[in-house]
Amino acid sequence: MGTDLVTMADPKSRFSFLNYLKENDRLYKFFIRENFFILRKEYNSYCKWVALQLDNCRFGHQVISVIYDKGLYILSVKNMSTGKEEEYITKKLVLGTGTQPNIPDFANRQQLPKVLHTSQYQFRKSEILNSTSVSIIGSGQSAAEIFSDLLPELESGLKINWFTRSERYFPLEYSKLTLELTSPEYVDYFYHLSSEKRRQILNAQNGLYKGINFDLISSIFDKLYEMSVDNTELPAFLRTNCRLNSISSTLKGSNLLEFTEVHQQRNFTSESDYVILATGYKYNEPACIEGIQSRIMRTSENLLNVSRNYTVDINNNEIFVQNAELHSHGFVSPDLGMGAYRNSRIINTIAGKEIYRVEKRIAFQEFGVPVNSEEKFQEGESIKNLAESL
Ligand SMILES: NC(=O)c1ccc[n+]([C@@H]2O[C@H](COP(=O)([O-])OP(=O)(O)OC[C@H]3O[C@@H](n4cnc5c(N)ncnc54)[C@H](OP(=O)(O)O)[C@@H]3O)[C@@H](O)[C@H]2O)c1
Repeated sequence: MGTDLVTMADPKSRFSFLNYLKENDRLYKFFIRENFFILRKEYNSYCKWVALQLDNCRFGHQVISVIYDKGLYILSVKNMSTGKEEEYITKKLVLGTGTQPNIPDFANRQQLPKVLHTSQYQFRKSEILNSTSVSIIGSGQSAAEIFSDLLPELESGLKINWFTRSERYFPLEYSKLTLELTSPEYVDYFYHLSSEKRRQILNAQNGLYKGINFDLISSIFDKLYEMSVDNTELPAFLRTNCRLNSISSTLKGSNLLEFTEVHQQRNFTSESDYVILATGYKYNEPACIEGIQSRIMRTSENLLNVSRNYTVDINNNEIFVQNAELHSHGFVSPDLGMGAYRNSRIINTIAGKEIYRVEKRIAFQEFGVPVNSEEKFQEGESIKNLAESL
């Protein structure tokens, strides 16, 4: 429930998931179900229920450009149903444009029509079921969910390859003291490290936000086990440590994949009809902010220079970002529970007063040198000062 739209910021909000259940006569059913995890279908229905009540949300409107003039941002916005452009004027901007499919450069999908990203899977599943072989690339939750979904097709002879660059099919870590890293104080700690140290830490934290649900791994193994009774040979091929380097189409219209086994440093090829890129998502800056680049701060590596309060502008209180701060605020950036915390901070900064009370500390453990120690953070700020500045 922590991941509904509002509860972590304001459990009294009328837009909570519990209120959605109450208003739709489903609260008792949910209570009897005794399961904390919301079904996707129901989450979708809940989000629609909230959106229908918000008349300040404009759907079907594309922001074409933004310019800055005398303290104001002027947005040209295209109404996608009428085609007309309208102007909106604002003092503050929050960029919540999300992430886009991460497609490797070599996977040109115009030339490779049978290569798709996981985000297209539901729309093209029937094509895959009518084919003879499919390769899934990557070992995050998306890859595992698709592999699991396709598993019954092994019995009808569909050949399924599952390749990943990772060393193993690892689970998402959910132990409680590790979950304490999804906290304001860990974000503070991470934020004040050097960019090099942050990069190193992020590289070692894949298991905290990119792994596979533990029960799903078990269920995949158990299904394979069950299907292999009597030592039946299954057309399923799972292989780790394999970096995909290129894809080309063969004369018969299938795909030829070229890999490197990263430990053995040896190349090999594999052929399959369809390829599903479960290669994740990445943040791309929206094209519409091109006209306000001079107001946006950059790091020496040309990344968005996101300040602790999620602003990226030169005045530190005009342009805010959501889920564009993995490099500065850490692995919690896409976390839905911490999204409510981030939005509370953004709203409080925009309003110039506390609209939502923001937790300063939630964890039992502490990060960094002890408060009473003489040691300081790199930028000369003590933990106590940091907590006060929240
Ligand atoms: N039910 C749910 O709630 C649900 C469902 C799906 C996804 N999600 C979440 O959404 C986010 C994205 O998940 P995701 O599974 O789409 O992506 P992801 O977790 O970012 O995983 C991408 C995978 O692709 C691999 N990869 C990338 N390029 C490769 C290459 N050239 N060759 C071989 N392997 C390559 C990566 O390997 P490396 O590890 O080596 O980079 C990684 O295993 C995650 O936070 C996930 O937890 C949630």
